[in-house]
Amino acid sequence: MSKQQHQKKRVLVTGGASGIGAAVVNFFDEIGEIVCSADITQPSMSTKAAGMHLQGDVSSKEDVARITSMAIDKMGGIDVLVNSAGIADTIAPTADQDIETWRKIIEINLTGTYLMCREVGMHMLQEGRGSVVNIASVAGISGFPWRNAYSSSKAAVINLTRSLACEWGDRGVRVNCVAPGYIRTPLVDQLESAGKIDTGHINGCTPLGRLGRPSEIAHAVAYLSSEWSSYVTGAIIPIDGGWTAFGGRER
Ligand SMILES: NC(=O)c1ccc[n+]([C@@H]2O[C@H](COP(=O)([O-])OP(=O)(O)OC[C@H]3O[C@@H](n4cnc5c(N)ncnc54)[C@H](O)[C@@H]3O)[C@@H](O)[C@H]2O)c1
Repeated sequence: MSKQQHQKKRVLVTGGASGIGAAVVNFFDEIGEIVCSADITQPSMSTKAAGMHLQGDVSSKEDVARITSMAIDKMGGIDVLVNSAGIADTIAPTADQDIETWRKIIEINLTGTYLMCREVGMHMLQEGRGSVVNIASVAGISGFPWRNAYSSSKAAVINLTRSLACEWGDRGVRVNCVAPGYIRTPLVDQLESAGKIDTGHINGCTPLGRLGRPSEIAHAVAYLSSEWSSYVTGAIIPIDGGWTAFGGRER
């Protein structure tokens, strides 16, 4: 792809107010694309994401329809959808978890991703092109004791990605997935300060020996959204410092 061929992409990022989503918004803005973020909250001053911001809940069908049509109005269309909105699990033995927690995690992480893919996908299919990148997790690749709802929601996002890639491939729309390992974001900070995760232990389970940076996920998302990945669809790419290669056991 030559410089002359580059046309500005119109990118919609859910969960764009914080963490990985905010890093994706900022990176696309930095490389000159047009970006719109959507989130249930406003970006805080410390994570102030560049680009336009829309407020809404990805697990609400009505909000998803409104966010999508507003993003299309503001940007003139959507070429790239990044689904980063998500919540963590309570981290407790499955027998101690309640059904409401399970439902909430599935509603936001899975149903929210499905609703966004469907709504924006209809627009992309009409245009005959587009790229969707879902943010799953290494917890969707292997089992994660004590995080059963989260792990199940992310495993389902992986297969949602594969199914949509098969359905939409011959209509010009690619659908891929990034599966992050532990990334230093507010979500992980909260789990750490609540004593739910031990980052020393995590570093020991990670061949690269550290947590990831949100920008390292943004770079993979940018690749999957670009022409450099024109023959890639239905792929699940772990960006995890080697966590899945190692099997998640302490060195
Ligand atoms: N941080 C990690 O280590 C890690 C690892 C693997 C996967 N992930 C996934 O990456 C994504 C981003 O996580 P993060 O670490 O940046 O978390 P984060 O908490 O920093 O950001 C998540 C964002 O999603 C938004 N959100 C939550 N519920 C929403 C809803 N119903 N509608 C719209 N927006 C909503 C939040 O307001 C927040 O801004 C999540 O899907 C998470 O599961 C994170």
